[in-house]
Amino acid sequence: MKAAIVTGASSGIGLEIAKKLVELNFKVYGLARDFSKIDYKNENFILINCDITKSNILEEKVKEIKSYEKEIYILVNNAGVGYFGPHEEINTRKLHDIIATNLEAPIILTHLLLRTLKESQGFIINISSITAKVISPIGAAYSASKAGLSHFSESLFEETRKKGVKVVTIHPDMTKTNFYNNANFKEGEVEESFITGQCVADAVKMILNQREGTVLTDITIRPQKHMITKKKSSIK
Ligand SMILES: NC(=O)c1ccc[n+]([C@@H]2O[C@H](COP(=O)([O-])OP(=O)(O)OC[C@H]3O[C@@H](n4cnc5c(N)ncnc54)[C@H](OP(=O)(O)O)[C@@H]3O)[C@@H](O)[C@H]2O)c1
Repeated sequence: MKAAIVTGASSGIGLEIAKKLVELNFKVYGLARDFSKIDYKNENFILINCDITKSNILEEKVKEIKSYEKEIYILVNNAGVGYFGPHEEINTRKLHDIIATNLEAPIILTHLLLRTLKESQGFIINISSITAKVISPIGAAYSASKAGLSHFSESLFEETRKKGVKVVTIHPDMTKTNFYNNANFKEGEVEESFITGQCVADAVKMILNQREGTVLTDITIRPQKHMITKKKSSIK
């Protein structure tokens, strides 16, 4: 059985990707800080408590996984945080969290696993965001972190394609998850105004199902309609 590592597997998009990979017969190591919020259990879904912004702990966890697994085939860099508002109102700790979680950790985790993924001719799937591609007022730091991740992803594909590594960037638009708990807006009420974690997981399945030699390097997933709901509370 091939192994996959999915960061941010305790919720939303990451949890749906983890479930999909289990369904596709992978042993999935999910990394997150708190799995108490999920009720999904499977013998092939291994929960690893890890704050991915703590590089030394991340390195230890990767060593541990490598010691159990002969073939690590997929890394999904999915964990992410977003804080939105006028840039001067987002405090320095939150700005640091955005960059450390969304950009630094995927770069470090990829470094720790790249030799292994070259051996397995495997996949690195980076969950970026539509905000990487558009101008994002009230989300300048978040969109910069995602633009950085997308650029890293594209450059890494050029660097590693000869070695058989498939590097893919997914750019989801507004997805119905807990992601906007901290924000003063969320997805619209109607079904056509958001995508779901399952939509992104289905895209992962499509990525894995391409013929050998074909790589879908960039997928953008958008809802049919653009609508957001403003919440009463403002950012804390
Ligand atoms: N929702 C959207 O509209 C949307 C759109 C485009 C892109 N995205 C991206 O999709 C990804 C998943 O977001 P989501 O919508 O599924 O949101 P979510 O439900 O809030 O999930 C975020 C996940 O990231 C994990 N995480 C955050 N900080 C972490 C850390 N320091 N260490 C380990 N895990 C951490 C969380 O786990 P713990 O809290 O348990 O650690 C959780 O599992 C993010 O990268 C986000 O930027 C989301």
